[in-house]
Amino acid sequence: MRRVVYGGTFNPPHLGHIQAVHSVSNALKPDKILVIPTNLAPHKEMSSDTPPPAERLELCRLAFGEIPGVEVSSLEMRREGKSYTSDTILELKAMYPRDELIFVMGTDMILSLETWHMPEVILEHAVLAVLLRGEPEDDRVSAHIAHLKQRYGGEIILIQAPVYPMASSDIRAALKQAAGRAFLSEKVYARIIKKRDYAAKAELSWLKDRAVELLAPKRVPHVLGCAEEAVRLTERWGGDAYEAAAAGILHDITKKCTLDEQLLLCDKYGIMIDTLVAGIEKTLHQITGAAVAYEEFGVSEAVRDAIRWHTTGKAGMSLLEKILYLADYIEPTRRFDGVEALRDLCYRDIDGAMELGLRMTIDDLSAKGAPVLEVSAQAYDWFRQRRGEST
Ligand SMILES: [Fe+2]
Ligand SMILES: [Fe+2]
Repeated sequence: MRRVVYGGTFNPPHLGHIQAVHSVSNALKPDKILVIPTNLAPHKEMSSDTPPPAERLELCRLAFGEIPGVEVSSLEMRREGKSYTSDTILELKAMYPRDELIFVMGTDMILSLETWHMPEVILEHAVLAVLLRGEPEDDRVSAHIAHLKQRYGGEIILIQAPVYPMASSDIRAALKQAAGRAFLSEKVYARIIKKRDYAAKAELSWLKDRAVELLAPKRVPHVLGCAEEAVRLTERWGGDAYEAAAAGILHDITKKCTLDEQLLLCDKYGIMIDTLVAGIEKTLHQITGAAVAYEEFGVSEAVRDAIRWHTTGKAGMSLLEKILYLADYIEPTRRFDGVEALRDLCYRDIDGAMELGLRMTIDDLSAKGAPVLEVSAQAYDWFRQRRGEST
């Protein structure tokens, strides 16, 4: 059996790595490609934001797991200490004594091979396949390959592969800036966002796509309007426009769920709810929505909390909490008596607008004979008191 070994830190595994697998597969027609993420790279310092080995292994499974003939191996993850390729090759040779082993590497790696731990072992037991990523077959590489063959024997072949424009380090930097999605497979990206690997922030366009999938179509204009209004409010009052947009996009993410589905979500995320809240579906979505946004879409605690209180309000709200509450109330598709006055107040006196918004909600509920939650009554009192103190 012809077994290709493709090792690396895969930090994170990106589309360039997937492209490399396809190039190797086309060129060598192997029976199996083993993708082996490194536990501890012997030659380079792993960046400080590297996720734990088990998480990189999971990302690799998501990136490569569905490519026919590819198997992601935890062989190096299971071994203590630095991940020397020579140890891996010897281990594989012991496991598959009759197989032909081909070890894939980049040109930088072949040039530094003699600084590796026991290069002679690698060349004795494996064919080396050097990936030329759009590079011409330069003289330095050819000369070095000739030197290695002469010194150690063994076989070294060259494989042409397309250039990939981004390095893993660039992708890690992009993820922190709410970018980089284009360089990752969908499953890898969703996992990185969910787990907050690399301190990644979700791209707003990706969050919008996910929200649209989960919302009733009629609610989409409201949600997008709310996100835009929240950003406008940050322009007036300060705060983080990205956080405001993310909160707006995700605030009604569980609104479509039935009461049973809401309760299942409470169960899933370990949310304890009192019976009064449980009986009011309208307010339950703020609790489950906050949990889904935080657990699945990697938002910050501030965004989670803004979603958590966007329907009821609460005493002592943060700026972002107020902004989301009000954006939800006054976004451009909202039509109700008094909306213009409330809109106007939102941009003149944010606490005054909170007090008015809460008053309007409480009056509306009372008029309908619906219960007013204690937390909303407390919020109203808190804002009213603040006004009393400032005048
Ligand atoms: Fe809502
Ligand atoms: Fe809403």
